Amino acid sequence: MRKKIIAGNWKMNKTIGEAVELANGIKLDLAACTEVDVVLCPPFTALKSVSDVVSETQIAVGAQNMSSEDEGAYTGEICHTMLKELFVRYVILGHSERREYYKENDFWINKKVLKALEKNLRPILCVGETLAQREANETEKVVEVQIREGLKDVPASAYTELVIAYEPVWAIGTGKTATAEQAQEVHAFIRGVVKDMVGAEAANAVRIQYGGSMKPANAEELLSQPDIDGGLIGGAALDATSFAAIVKAAL
Ligand code: 13P
Repeated sequence: MRKKIIAGNWKMNKTIGEAVELANGIKLDLAACTEVDVVLCPPFTALKSVSDVVSETQIAVGAQNMSSEDEGAYTGEICHTMLKELFVRYVILGHSERREYYKENDFWINKKVLKALEKNLRPILCVGETLAQREANETEKVVEVQIREGLKDVPASAYTELVIAYEPVWAIGTGKTATAEQAQEVHAFIRGVVKDMVGAEAANAVRIQYGGSMKPANAEELLSQPDIDGGLIGGAALDATSFAAIVKAAL
């Protein structure tokens, strides 16, 4: 039985003070939650403060990106050592906003995934198709390439640590959610691709989150699908009550 995982991707929102307030609000409700893995992913600048707020709780902290390199002359980048020093446990990699606005590609995303796993950080690898790709019936093709390239050379044993987030680009921040059936279909497809790559055991173990306008009103239906193991939440994660309601829908 896969444990559900609900992660809040705060994106480029929240100053340190605002992040502390939000984390405290979430902590009030979820500090002792053990049935679901709860992860908060604030911007880099608030990682330390949010880590301090949730230390000694069941809530984990994640970053929104990470360099594939260990250290050195990489202006503007943040490496695994810096994240681990702040008690970061997860790292979102290959989010569609990074693919679209910063031209991240599968090659570099794969290097980051491998580096994160090597350093005992849990990658949350994001994949998903655009509206044009869905309308052209290319969803499976696009997602399969992202999975095969993004997870190239990842050993079967690492799939218990790794999380995949299926985020249809057309559903992100638009208020349009994939229907539970649409999401389930792609999640099952992704699990099939993983099975083909590394075998049934790893495919059964890997957790696949849905992301894209998930909110309290639709969370329960999405999370009750057999291959949906959690959510990567954007907008609704910026409000403690909404985020806690989504976690409760996963119970
Ligand atoms: P929204 O929940 O705001 O649609 O964002 C989803 C997302 O991109 C999470 O990474």
